[in-house]
Amino acid sequence: MNTVCMIAAVAEDNALGKDNDLLWHLPDDFKRFKGLTTGHPIIMGRKTYETFPKPLPNRTHIIITRDKNYKTEFEECVVVHSLLEALKLCKREPLSFIIGGGEIYAQGEKFSNKIELTRVHATFEDADTFFPEIDFKKWKLIEEEYHPINEHHKYAFTYLTYIRNELRVLSEGRNTAYFQKSK
Ligand SMILES: NC(=O)c1ccc[n+]([C@@H]2O[C@H](COP(=O)([O-])OP(=O)(O)OC[C@H]3O[C@@H](n4cnc5c(N)ncnc54)[C@H](OP(=O)(O)O)[C@@H]3O)[C@@H](O)[C@H]2O)c1
Repeated sequence: MNTVCMIAAVAEDNALGKDNDLLWHLPDDFKRFKGLTTGHPIIMGRKTYETFPKPLPNRTHIIITRDKNYKTEFEECVVVHSLLEALKLCKREPLSFIIGGGEIYAQGEKFSNKIELTRVHATFEDADTFFPEIDFKKWKLIEEEYHPINEHHKYAFTYLTYIRNELRVLSEGRNTAYFQKSK
């Protein structure tokens, strides 16, 4: 079974971003994002793609837009016109990631079987983009790791790994996960 994982850093009030940028700078979360996603396709909305100064190394970028003329100059970037089209490109991949933003997460939950959520322990009144309300009754928390405030991190946060309730973990490495439906 292949894994489709939504990965997001989300404030207590589900805030994700403002003015097409993030609301925080959390270097350890960036490192974790890099470690988890490197070597795997990353699916994103056109607005999230445009927040990157250049593509992230060693990852195929699948960019979703309604603009049929949208192009990028980078060969590691593929442009598609729906989330389904993006997921079709990943159907032979053992692990692929939906990396945002708000519009794409809102469409992505039903196609995902894993969520890597970094819960940032703060609220942001001026945010303009939000993570969707997830029905956590449908999800099982399988890992949790708290990261305190320190000199490089203005906010404390917790890494939370969820899989769908009906799944059980067969084996899980840093970069792959194998699930089976529970009997
Ligand atoms: N905290 C986090 O983990 C995190 C992660 C990612 C992003 N962000 C933040 O989220 C914000 C961006 O999110 P966003 O919700 O504004 O934008 P987004 O989801 O990144 O991209 C939205 C765009 O995706 C395209 N799109 C959406 N649904 C589509 C569909 N069904 N078919 C075809 N194209 C579709 C459209 O592109 P066109 O307009 O080109 O048609 C739409 O404007 C930024 O602030 C960013 O920093 C935060």
